[in-house]
Amino acid sequence: VASKVITDVETVDKFIASSVGEVVVELLTVIGVAIILLYLNWQLALVILLLNPVTIFIFLRSFRNVGEMKKKENKSIERFQNTLTESLELYNQIRVQNREKHFLETVDKQAKEIRDRSYLFGLKSEVALELSRLLVFYSHDVFKAIGIFLVLTGSLSIGVMLAIFSYAWVIMKPVDKLINFIHLYYNAKTAMERLNQIMALEKEPFYEAKVDPFKNKTSAVIRLENVSFSYDGSKEVLQNINLEIKEGEKVAIVGKTGTGKSTLAQILIGLYPISSGKIYYNEVEIQEVGYEKVRENVGFVLQAPLMFNNTLRFNLTLGRAYEDEVIYEALKVAQLFDFVDGLEHKLDTIVGKNGTKLSGGQRQRLSIARVLLDNPKVIIFDESTSSLDNATEEKLLRDLDAYVKEKTIVTIAHRQSSIENAHRVIDLSQVGT
Ligand SMILES: Nc1ncnc2c1ncn2[C@@H]1O[C@H](COP(=O)(O)OP(=O)(O)OP(=O)(O)O)[C@@H](O)[C@H]1O
Ligand SMILES: [Mg+2]
Repeated sequence: VASKVITDVETVDKFIASSVGEVVVELLTVIGVAIILLYLNWQLALVILLLNPVTIFIFLRSFRNVGEMKKKENKSIERFQNTLTESLELYNQIRVQNREKHFLETVDKQAKEIRDRSYLFGLKSEVALELSRLLVFYSHDVFKAIGIFLVLTGSLSIGVMLAIFSYAWVIMKPVDKLINFIHLYYNAKTAMERLNQIMALEKEPFYEAKVDPFKNKTSAVIRLENVSFSYDGSKEVLQNINLEIKEGEKVAIVGKTGTGKSTLAQILIGLYPISSGKIYYNEVEIQEVGYEKVRENVGFVLQAPLMFNNTLRFNLTLGRAYEDEVIYEALKVAQLFDFVDGLEHKLDTIVGKNGTKLSGGQRQRLSIARVLLDNPKVIIFDESTSSLDNATEEKLLRDLDAYVKEKTIVTIAHRQSSIENAHRVIDLSQVGT
């Protein structure tokens, strides 16, 4: 989508480039005709030759003003593109955190800003155009009046006057061309209207929330019935999975790399639709619950968590309003409090593009903290402590234990140390058929 916007801008640029040649030709015409006019009657010629630059000058003045607006509009477009690109890149993280609405609203707001600015710009440019058109006509009338006056006083013959009038029209043409050229340029900006198409961004299927199985519960029963899933429609990554995780149970999922552990976690919150079988939360099928409700109640720490090039606070809250105290509480559990507290700008520290200013372990703990903040009833951790040293992991798991006592927890891990607290260990390679 972003590239479409760029193409639009390119179209406009190309238009200018191709028109420059024409402007040069027109200029040469003006010079030629000016010489003839000066030869025919230099006084009258000066009148028209001076009137035209005055017109153009006034026109350019108003155009420069309009140009400022164009700059503002471009700034809006740039801002919009950045938000859009990042939102698209981090779309899955946004979905996981149930923040689609917020991000679409931001994109929408910025798109509207562009629309408003381009409208204002269009309006002003239209006024500038009409005004300069008027000026051209008036100056020509003045010129004609002087010509007729000169004929009446006998200092000019009717024949020469008519000749000068027709040559003057030749000069008028480039002026009008220039005005037209800029007007066409304004019109090229209607390419901006395509931005509206972005509003039609393809969204995932929406399922109306019919029943809320999480209401008045502190955790949930998760049940999978003959669940199969394939990314490409042919090779099945998950085959006939039958599984039940009880209320408040802490389950560990193991299995060798590539068996589909992360895939299982993702279909549990509806990131991908399953090809067959059923998923139930508290005995209500996932589609009846609606993905939004599911993600509100089922927290998920992605194996490769994504970060926005924004503050720690934003990455933790994704735009939701939380008290600093609450944020620090979550950071403590995630063993990140000391780190954040030691930063000069604390929660307002920028993490860099995709969190490059953080270590792998800090990123993992940050994404744990952000899931804790949302206080969901089920949490899925996908290799969330794999980058931590043993001592830090142990502390984190201990603090986490108290925090998630009532919740249903699914931990995916390779390391034995990460799953020591689990009530039950499920080997995914043994679950399917
Ligand atoms: N987005 C995707 N598109 C297509 N295939 C995918 C996608 N994600 C994973 N796969 C494939 O699905 C299979 C299961 O991947 P998955 O990530 O679920 O494994 P995993 O058990 O989590 O492995 P690991 O322990 O290494 O994290 C792999 O063969 C992988 O190549
Ligand atoms: Mg995985």
